[in-house]
Amino acid sequence: MDYFNFREQTLWCEDVSVEEIASKVGTPFYLYSHKTLVHHFRVFDLAFGEVPHIICFSVKANSNLSILRIFVAEGGGVDIVSGGELYRALQVGVDPMKIVYSGVGKTLDEIDYALKTGILMFNVESSEELGVINERACAMGKLARIALRVNPDVDPKTHPHISTGLKSNKFGIDIEKSREEYRRAKGLSNIEVIGVDCHIGSQVTQIAPFVDALDRLKNLISLLKKDGIEVEYLDLGGGLGITYNDELPPHPEQYAKAILGASGDLKCTFILEPGRVIVGNAGILVTRVLYNKSTDQKNFVIIDAGMNDLIRPSLYSSYHLIQPVVMKGRESIVADVVGPICESGDFLAKGRTIPRVERGELLAVMSAGAYGFTMSSNYNSRPRIAEVLVRDDQFFVIRERESYRDLVRGEDVPNFLK
Ligand code: LLP
Repeated sequence: MDYFNFREQTLWCEDVSVEEIASKVGTPFYLYSHKTLVHHFRVFDLAFGEVPHIICFSVKANSNLSILRIFVAEGGGVDIVSGGELYRALQVGVDPMKIVYSGVGKTLDEIDYALKTGILMFNVESSEELGVINERACAMGKLARIALRVNPDVDPKTHPHISTGLKSNKFGIDIEKSREEYRRAKGLSNIEVIGVDCHIGSQVTQIAPFVDALDRLKNLISLLKKDGIEVEYLDLGGGLGITYNDELPPHPEQYAKAILGASGDLKCTFILEPGRVIVGNAGILVTRVLYNKSTDQKNFVIIDAGMNDLIRPSLYSSYHLIQPVVMKGRESIVADVVGPICESGDFLAKGRTIPRVERGELLAVMSAGAYGFTMSSNYNSRPRIAEVLVRDDQFFVIRERESYRDLVRGEDVPNFLK
């Protein structure tokens, strides 16, 4: 459920008209609904209400400080994958004991930063990484709390680029080898084993892969018990999908019910790392039509947002509903909706049936709150766009549009070139 609605044929975000924001902020921009964000977080949190749990929002999905702040205020933690994400989390006051750190390539500096911060746990992704974390903890006189990120080898049946829990993926430690690795971890001087972790993939729209993964983890947990290793935290990662088009993902309540049902009598604190399901449908991308153009073969609608602003369609052939901000009765055409970038792969939709739109009119690219701004770039020297948050009848620019000056910040021309 979201708070983007048409009122008399014009799109509103909560109690603010999208046209009004566009006239003040310019286009393109990302637009988020506060009420939707809070609602999604609460529904997810409540779904796990009957067990001890921490909802660690996955920062990579949307890392804007104001958005993170909303979840902190709701009692959430974060799932991070870099020093930069840790920095952001600390900026908004996330409790270090609600921070989990995944990622196959943690650098020494990043490990030190997390140890200094005293995060809840590292989700360790390789045998070598475990050794390095122990060494760094030793050097700093710290105890590193860890889980091993186990690769359960289940097929999440999602796009190959965002599937992570298969043996062929680079993530985690093979479940068959993990018991051995846990035994090793237990023997390391500055490591405290506290958890088991997995993350099978993203935009998963079925329950079965989550339950399969949990079954395998449960089995591992009982083996670990025999080895004298008590698992306090079970981190099941993120991955629950959303409706972009006609997908029918389970509701968070069904998802939680299935997980809690399958977890049996496990006595541990559950950690969940949702990203997309919280922010995906809480944000849209607002863009303006620059030109219409027709060739013998095709219609093109050329807009002021490009693949540098929202790369998902180009990268994963993802579907995002695109609709005029002001609906009015008119004929439909089939068109490619494309950006200004000098690449044929720069499109937000291909062969899409849309109303015949006019130059200068506003379009809303829906379901763009997750992996939209965070994956944007300056390609073609395009300043990254503004982010706006609506709360009731007010809107706030929570990230200003970059300027040309921002584009060259940090660049230096050595004397011999001057
Ligand atoms: N935890 C870990 C360890 C992850 O790697 C991810 C996402 C999540 C949690 C959050 O997953 P979510 O609940 O959002 O599905 N850029 C792609 C998605 C990449 C997901 C990467 N990992 C996209 O735009 O679809």
